[in-house]
Amino acid sequence: MVDDNTANEAVVDEINKDEKKEDEVVKEETKEETKEEKNEEKEAKKEEKKMKAVYYTSYGGGANALKHGEITVPVPKKDEVLIKTEAVSINPLDLKVQHGSFRPLYPKGFPCIPASDIAGEVVDVGSEVKNFKAGDKVVAMLSSYVGGGLAEYSVAKENLTVQRPTEITAAEAAGLPLAGLAAYQALTNCAGIKLDGSASDKNILITAASGGVGFFAIQLAKLANLHVTATCGERNIELVKSVGADEVLDYKTPEGASLKSPSGKQYDFVIHCASSIGWSTFAHNLSTHGKVIELNYGAKSYWSVALRKVTFSKKQLVPMSFSAKGDNLESLVKLMKEGKLRTVVDSKHPFDKAENAWAKSAEGHATGKIIVEF
Ligand SMILES: NC(=O)c1ccc[n+]([C@@H]2O[C@H](COP(=O)([O-])OP(=O)(O)OC[C@H]3O[C@@H](n4cnc5c(N)ncnc54)[C@H](OP(=O)(O)O)[C@@H]3O)[C@@H](O)[C@H]2O)c1
Repeated sequence: MVDDNTANEAVVDEINKDEKKEDEVVKEETKEETKEEKNEEKEAKKEEKKMKAVYYTSYGGGANALKHGEITVPVPKKDEVLIKTEAVSINPLDLKVQHGSFRPLYPKGFPCIPASDIAGEVVDVGSEVKNFKAGDKVVAMLSSYVGGGLAEYSVAKENLTVQRPTEITAAEAAGLPLAGLAAYQALTNCAGIKLDGSASDKNILITAASGGVGFFAIQLAKLANLHVTATCGERNIELVKSVGADEVLDYKTPEGASLKSPSGKQYDFVIHCASSIGWSTFAHNLSTHGKVIELNYGAKSYWSVALRKVTFSKKQLVPMSFSAKGDNLESLVKLMKEGKLRTVVDSKHPFDKAENAWAKSAEGHATGKIIVEF
């Protein structure tokens, strides 16, 4: 026989069991809901993390092949900073990458967001970044061959990012990295010149002095106290003089084409930013140990280098490739802050017309740097 108490306990047990089961079902449902909510949140965040970018999807095509679209905002790795872009500069190298001059190595894939020289504000930093925080105004150099600059946000290595003093505008800063580093390294590394005024007994020729690299090269050469002869088109002669050139040759005249210094000087160094000038034209104008530092080199240049070696020529040809160096960029920013260096700006283009900046660079007639602003 079962007494009333035992029967009641059994019923209570059953009720408890049922309630437990119900609780578990509710818990499972809640878990599912939370999971779903989290997924929705993630999706929503993904949605938020899109940015406007300009990119191309295959080799070639120039400015017409640039597309505007939305791309996911990159996430900074541990040694990177995420920068909200304010200004970007276009370099001839960016166009060469699009053209396919470095295929199949570069670009690393499509779509490719071009441009490497940027100025902007840090919005996020990787876990090991020590010297930057959100809100810092900076100038940075991305990989020139990989790009990433023509977008609302980009990630830069901490060691290629430099604080941007308030004296330097975003446009001026964005014009600096690649062209500034090329000019700086041509003078300091290749020519072995110190920028301390100690080279007053030396002469330098700078070809295509009215271009992005040329304007920086003139100013840096004058800091070294070199005597500067520059070549450019007639329309830029006064501007080239105004940044420091001592004498200027119009490259379209016979005198300009001969590269002869108007004051009869022989060049100890040439920073050769133009193209299509043969060695024999330089050779007549060089001092005994004169050195031509060639920025636009090709297979022909290496042949010429080899020839100089086998004939024991004291006059040298040095093909040069800039390297991305944060400490060099820092030195350039310091000179700019001190008012010893400035960016000559050819033109500024709004981001939604970035293709105009690209087309301008492709023409090869920029006077200084071409800037895209956000
Ligand atoms: N190896 C490296 O590390 C390195 C680094 C940076 C650049 N580069 C190369 O160096 C070259 C120059 O770069 P950039 O950024 O200065 O180019 P840029 O800004 O496009 O140069 C354009 C300027 O060059 C002038 N110019 C063109 N041909 C000339 C000539 N024969 N004589 C005198 N002036 C001439 C143009 O004057 P007009 O308008 O009057 O014609 C224009 O003002 C490019 O080929 C670039 O790819 C190489």
